[in-house]
Amino acid sequence: MIVGIEGFEDAGVYKITDEIAIVQTIDFFTPIVDDPYWFGQIAAANALSDIYAMGAVPKTALNMVCFSMKRFGAPVLKEIIRGGVDKIREAGVSLLGGHSVDDEETKYGLSVTGIVHPEKVILNEGALPGDALILTKPLGTGILNTGIKGKILGEDSIRSLVEVMARLNKKASEAMLSVRTHAGTDVTGFGLVGHLKEMIRESIGVEIFRDRIPYFPEAVELAQSGFAPGGLYRNRDFYKVHVISEVQDFFYDIIFDPQTSGGLLFAVAPEDLPEFEKNAARMEVDFRVIGKFLSEPKGKIILREQ
Ligand code: CO
Ligand code: CO
Repeated sequence: MIVGIEGFEDAGVYKITDEIAIVQTIDFFTPIVDDPYWFGQIAAANALSDIYAMGAVPKTALNMVCFSMKRFGAPVLKEIIRGGVDKIREAGVSLLGGHSVDDEETKYGLSVTGIVHPEKVILNEGALPGDALILTKPLGTGILNTGIKGKILGEDSIRSLVEVMARLNKKASEAMLSVRTHAGTDVTGFGLVGHLKEMIRESIGVEIFRDRIPYFPEAVELAQSGFAPGGLYRNRDFYKVHVISEVQDFFYDIIFDPQTSGGLLFAVAPEDLPEFEKNAARMEVDFRVIGKFLSEPKGKIILREQ
């Protein structure tokens, strides 16, 4: 076993030979959008993301379904699965089977197995002072999902939100692996700050810049009007002691927002940054360099204005 349950890693890693280790993960959740086809795509993209975050290539998947046929009917289930299968195909992954349980509350996701060279696993720890911090999707999905539940998010905003959440982190992972990446993870339930804390632990620090961090513009007004998920406040209460902030307004909330199918977050050696930027542009990967790792203050995340 190379990676087990201790290090809060994105997935487990088990060495088979000197060249091959398998990477395994499972992830599923309740519907976040009304459209079952989009829900299936988002749940699958989210489950695959932990494999990409480890620097691995996903190979096989199993469906995990909780569904009430009596309540919602076969056509809805078919659409959820179709969404999942479309993403599995786009990822170049083989669907081997799955399991379904009769359940009043719908849940869908995947168990995914990938492969990686045992010495090339990307862990969340290992960033060095001076490394550039890169993020590949905008923040604010938790806030916008709360807006969907409150039925105040417009069609266009919903559309751009679901497109981002359904986007695979495949190309982002390929760009990450094209240079010397010291550490990486994906931004999910603990928000940007929570996952950054997993990267720095008490060993190093990091500074992030408000004017470089991508976020959905709708998140501003929604957060100001109190449309924020419970997880945002839980993250803020838990992680705020690790944050030194020059920013006191709404933006402070966005860095704690729990993400669904969020982007990759990783540390690239500074001398490799120009090459990364070139590769990412060629591969059409959306990304922003949002900050830099520091030797001091250890264990702290500094949010600067610019
Ligand atoms: Co993860
Ligand atoms: Co996970």
